[in-house]
Amino acid sequence: MRSLRRGDSTSDRNGAIVSIKDICDLYNTDMIASIAFGLRSYSLRNTQSEIGSHCQDIFRPNMRRIIDFFVIFYLPKLVPLLRSKLFTESHSEFLRRVIQLVIEERERGGILRNDLIEMLLTLKKEADLQQDKSHFTHHQDFLAAQAASFEVAGIETCSSSMSFALYELAKQPLMQARLRREIREAFRRQSDDGSESLSYERIASMEYLRMVVEETLRKYPIVPLLERECTPTSKKRFYSLRPHAECYARRGMPIYISNLAIHHDPKYWPDPERFDPERFSALNKSHQVPMSYLPYGAGPHNCIGMQIGQLQIKLGLIYFLRQHQVELCDQTVEQISFDPKFALLASEHSIYLKIVDCYDL
Ligand code: HEM
Repeated sequence: MRSLRRGDSTSDRNGAIVSIKDICDLYNTDMIASIAFGLRSYSLRNTQSEIGSHCQDIFRPNMRRIIDFFVIFYLPKLVPLLRSKLFTESHSEFLRRVIQLVIEERERGGILRNDLIEMLLTLKKEADLQQDKSHFTHHQDFLAAQAASFEVAGIETCSSSMSFALYELAKQPLMQARLRREIREAFRRQSDDGSESLSYERIASMEYLRMVVEETLRKYPIVPLLERECTPTSKKRFYSLRPHAECYARRGMPIYISNLAIHHDPKYWPDPERFDPERFSALNKSHQVPMSYLPYGAGPHNCIGMQIGQLQIKLGLIYFLRQHQVELCDQTVEQISFDPKFALLASEHSIYLKIVDCYDL
């Protein structure tokens, strides 16, 4: 994740050329700061905010981070030996400090806010009532780790999804105009009901927005590999993959399923490189082959943040596109190539787009 540096954006009366992922990073940092830490981080206003620069540390690739990530994900048994860490020491300290401060303030002021911190405090109170001193909520690191997991899982995923969506919409002005019409119509109907902001139900009823987001995650499944361990239910030591493949998986063997490959398989998705939200119209959805669409995984280990992730992406697109238009410019890459150094799906090159105000379009 890069911050918006001077030189990364240029502007004139006709609009601004920006690295769109940088803007999406800042927006999603603000969202997770609010949802997970109960803070207003104002990263969009102050691109060098403390929380923003700490969040950047996690995904800023350097050789040490690449090795740490590789060991954590692919060779977990070596973690104690190599002392691989997801967070740097200074980042961990920052997380502990912030969570402690927020919790103290909440407990002192009796502030109520419907967020992760409040849920953790409720759990802690329940443990206190039961006089359970060994309860996990008494461990400060446990509390910080919950917020940290939101930070790891909720910023980069949503930010990349949003920037891929905006890139595709810049390429397809008619789709963008259709989505903007739906967004403005939703605001009109909400204000007829006497409210300025959109309700959850109103957002959920925005059909074309849903189709655009779902097609974005079809073409760009941000978590491109699903990981499982082979655990045959019988006592057998092997699981046969016949008749689908002439091979066996050994008990305990790690299995990697490429949802990226599945999402680009023309057997399930004709003309897979074409961005086409119509694939997700109510009618077309009913013809989809089960398990051919896995952006959030499947089964008991699927993504627990699916709902909040979708809401974050949708809200970002709504408020951005309501009054801004994205267009291609000379610096826009013609084709996205994925960064091979990155565990998640990320564009190898910055995606530059032109942003034009369009209050009256
Ligand atoms: C566009 C947004 C997101 C995408 C595409 C995404 C995708 C995924 C995928 C593919 C998995 C693995 C599922 C599997 O193996 O079956 C996963 C796991 C997970 N995600 Fe997400 N995610 C997103 C947003 C979020 C958010 C916002 C949070 C939390 C705030 C979150 C929390 C988690 C957690 C905790 C897991 C591990 C679940 C487990 O192992 O039981 N994700 N996500």
